[in-house]
Amino acid sequence: MMSYTDLPQGIEITALDPHFREDPYGILRNLRDQSPVHEDTELKRFIYTRHDDVKNILRDKDLWSDPRKANPGSFTREFLGSGDEEPSMLMMDEPNHRRLRSLVSRPFTPAAVEKWRPRTREVIQRVLAKISDDEFDLIADYAGPIPTVVIAEMLGVDPAMHGDFKRWSDLLIKVSFNPLPSEDEVKNGETAADDLNAFFYAEIEKRRQDLRGDLLSDMIRAEEDGEKLSAEEIISQCNLLLIAGNVTTTDLIGNGTRALLDHPEQLAKLQADPTLIKNTVEEMLRFDSPVTNSGRIANRTIELSGCPVNTGESLLASLAAANRDGAVYPDPDKFDIEREDTHHQSFGGGRHLCLGAHLARLEAQEAVLALLERFPGIKHGTGGFEYASVPSFRGMNYFWVATRS
Ligand code: HEM
Repeated sequence: MMSYTDLPQGIEITALDPHFREDPYGILRNLRDQSPVHEDTELKRFIYTRHDDVKNILRDKDLWSDPRKANPGSFTREFLGSGDEEPSMLMMDEPNHRRLRSLVSRPFTPAAVEKWRPRTREVIQRVLAKISDDEFDLIADYAGPIPTVVIAEMLGVDPAMHGDFKRWSDLLIKVSFNPLPSEDEVKNGETAADDLNAFFYAEIEKRRQDLRGDLLSDMIRAEEDGEKLSAEEIISQCNLLLIAGNVTTTDLIGNGTRALLDHPEQLAKLQADPTLIKNTVEEMLRFDSPVTNSGRIANRTIELSGCPVNTGESLLASLAAANRDGAVYPDPDKFDIEREDTHHQSFGGGRHLCLGAHLARLEAQEAVLALLERFPGIKHGTGGFEYASVPSFRGMNYFWVATRS
């Protein structure tokens, strides 16, 4: 048995560490069993791994998200404090958070998202039509393009720009949530951010002359209590939609497909009864969540699982650990598309609950069904797969699949 001092610290509990990438769930299970409120003395944060603690933290409306409120030296202040740029709503507290969220939330309600199902199917068929090889990289050729094209279409971006969109958001995500980016990643991220900002400024100017039926026009038009969004606020929300929405949805399709291919009996069940797709996607989210953790800042001394943590400290809620807590899920490490209770923490909760949850679900449901319909004999390819080293996220750089059994 490990002693407390043997428990992992710092980057050992992030995707930067190869052991963590290989098996985050084993490491997190150990933490939950031995130190459910784990003080990470290197990165200066408290890691919560019990389902109920994670759930309570995310839904506690008094806790803060604005890094400027975190103690100097703490994780959130050091690594997530974004300098002088307009923060996105993810890092905002009330009343600004509510104002911004309500201004951009209309297109993301379940009913509004449902209207995108036919367009999403078209996008998926266009992407599928380009695949002709017996083996292909599911990430680059399928799961990657789908969410980028869908969000680009929602924003009203010219299809000629879709390739740039994908590139910019990939470069940005490499630095956005990474406590230890490399010099190259920082440089490329800055260039991508400049290009993207310049692009959005120009688009906003165009829309101001000529409002359309797209999300960018909606944000310009939006008014709440007589307030409008500034160009900087609009750009910050667009960046968030790209960063928060693209890679995560790609990873859901990638991780979820991998789970199916690793469990042929589950794959066969879904193929025999495609109406299981909704439950399947929820189980995919629970089993291998694209976002492994979210966070809050203590607004008071907070005591969970008997461990007091002081005001201003960084609270890291491990969604990945919560989703595999045996106290809540029978046989938690089993991938079971017919599981009765597939509720999960993968979209966070409370005030900051993922705005794109319905869109991500819809895209994944359609993408997985279309993939299986086109390639009923799909299986692992010879090129293998590799998990990416972006902290807080879990997804693959590449994942080769074979189309014939
Ligand atoms: C499988 C895909 C996705 C996953 C796993 C995911 C996960 C998350 C998580 C964990 C949070 C933080 C919640 C919290 O701290 O309580 C979040 C916030 C957010 N997500 Fe997602 N997300 C996904 C897709 C999307 C998409 C497609 C969009 C939009 C196009 C989106 C937009 C947002 C926004 C705007 C926020 C901030 C909400 C706020 O602060 O009020 N996400 N997401």
